[in-house]
Order: sequence, then structure tokens, then C-alpha cells
Amino acid sequence: MSGTENPRATVLIADDSDPNREILTEFLRRENYTVVSAEDGEQALTCFRQGRVDLALLDVMMPRLTGFEVCKTLKSNPETRLIPVVLVTGLSQTQDRVRGIDCGADDFLSKPVVKEELLARVRSLLRLKHFTDELENAETVLFSLALSIEAKDPYTGGHCDRLSKYSVTLAERLGLKEELRVALRRAGVIHDIGKLAVPEHILLKPGPLSPEEWLIMKQHPVLGERICSPLKSFRHVLPIIRHHHEKLDGTGYPDGLKGEKIPLTARILTTVDIYDALTTERPYREALSSEEAFATLREEVTRGWWDPDLVNELEAALTAGEPAFLKGAL
Ligand SMILES: [Fe+2]
Repeated sequence: MSGTENPRATVLIADDSDPNREILTEFLRRENYTVVSAEDGEQALTCFRQGRVDLALLDVMMPRLTGFEVCKTLKSNPETRLIPVVLVTGLSQTQDRVRGIDCGADDFLSKPVVKEELLARVRSLLRLKHFTDELENAETVLFSLALSIEAKDPYTGGHCDRLSKYSVTLAERLGLKEELRVALRRAGVIHDIGKLAVPEHILLKPGPLSPEEWLIMKQHPVLGERICSPLKSFRHVLPIIRHHHEKLDGTGYPDGLKGEKIPLTARILTTVDIYDALTTERPYREALSSEEAFATLREEVTRGWWDPDLVNELEAALTAGEPAFLKGAL
């Protein structure tokens, strides 16, 4: 893909020097890129908030916020972290580059910027961005489908969102690495996507299911895993989807896994799923209070169903007022 094949890509140039901005703008406009420019770091962040930016070229030394600070802010926000950032640094400033890598920069350009090098970097990073956007589109479709299942059932409003927040809170308390926290956030929304294949008369049946209906219902973790399996970015989400109905004593489904054979991430989602179900109103009962829900969970722990450490951890988190201000896109 050349610049002329992707004329709508928008490149942000942030530099406090007028001549530098003008030169870079000229190079990019000739290749039909849309250019927005900022004179300092604060303005650069405003540009991101105001509209679509596909790639950012940030001068390192800028007033108000430096290129490092802007880069760090962008890379720590789930909504902007996939936008490629190129830091423009002075010649051979190794320390700048090390710091830039720490801040999450995708690439570097040395001053004075050479036109051919600039255009090659921009082309290559935008190609990558294009693939990331495609992937995000596929994920967005899956999330919308998952939320459409939730929307069918008036008693589960907000369930997915709460699950994401509770499970990420637990994951943080347990010190799980970033990729597993992200997987849990996604799984909170998407874990029941296999219910798409369950007929509505079973899905929304107010009374108990017949044994045949149960057989169909119990397929949903397997079907969900199959629906999401083509997405490589979901590889840590798949085990959560498949195993979110397992029980520690092996009486759960679909695989009857026991104890620690059930992935920790799946056990986390199960714990918060049960807690949320208990504390939400159902057609056949009122919502339980938090204390009542934990009493029920503990009783079921003694039956060998749930992970006692995770139940304790969830109670401790909620007692401490978490999850508080959990933000972020899925
Ligand atoms: Fe489920």
C-alpha cells in the first residue's frame, strides 16, 4: 500500500517548531495524507480527543507535555494504544530512544528528517494499523452479538459490564499479567456468545429446563469457543469461554475439569458470574444482598463447587470498595 492508495489516513504532527511542522506537512500532503498539526503536547492530546488520528509523529522536546509524556498517555489508554506513534529525536540520542521504547513508541525518526525515510515509516506503520483496524472490526462485531444476547433478557441488564469490572479487579489483586487482565475484560462480555445458538424458548424459559433442553444449553461454552476461535487475539479468552461453567469437584461442564485443571482465569469469571447472578433480581426471586450472596457462595464452596480463595478475594475487593473507577475499552 502506498500513500496514494490510502489517501484518507490522518497523520498528526506535533512539533513546537513552525519550520519543522511545515516541512513534514508538505512531505505528507504531497502523498495525499490528511495532516493535523499541534504546537505542543497538550494540543496533540486534544487532537486525539477531537477526531480520528491514524498515526502520530511526535517531537520529543515540546512545551507543556513532551513527546514521551504524550506517547505514554496514548499507550496507556485502551482507546488509543493501537495508534502508531513515531518519536522524532535528535541524531544519535540513544537515551531518548531507550526512554521512547519504555513509553511504548512504535518507531523513531532522526532529525533532520529524510523524506524517503519518513514516508517509508509512515507507509509501513499505517499498513499495520490497517490490519489492527480490521481485527478490531471483527472483535466489535463479536461484542455487539454478545451484548445482543444480554439485551434479550431483561433480568441481566449490565451483567456483562459488571462481570468485566469484577473479574479485572480480581485479576489485579492477584497480580495477573496484562494479557490475562485484558482477556478477562473481554471474556466478561463475550463468555456467553455461544447462547446465540440456543433457541429462545430454552434461553428465556422461566421454569426449570428439561433434561433435553439442558443438553442444548450446556453446549454454549463449546459453541462460544468455536465462534471466537478464528481470532488469534482471543487466544487467552477461549479457555475462559470454554470453562466458565466448570466446578472444582468436576461436576461442571463441558469437560468436567477438576480443581486447578480449570484455568485460573475461568475460575475468576465463574466466581464473579455466580456472585452477580445471585445479587441480581430474577423472575423467580428477589436479588440477594451481598452478605446473603457470599453466604450462598460459601455454602457452595463446602460442596466443592467454587474456589474458596477467589470467593474470599472477591469479598475483600468489594469490602474495600473496588472495583472503583475501572475504565477502558474492551
Ligand atoms: Fe454461560
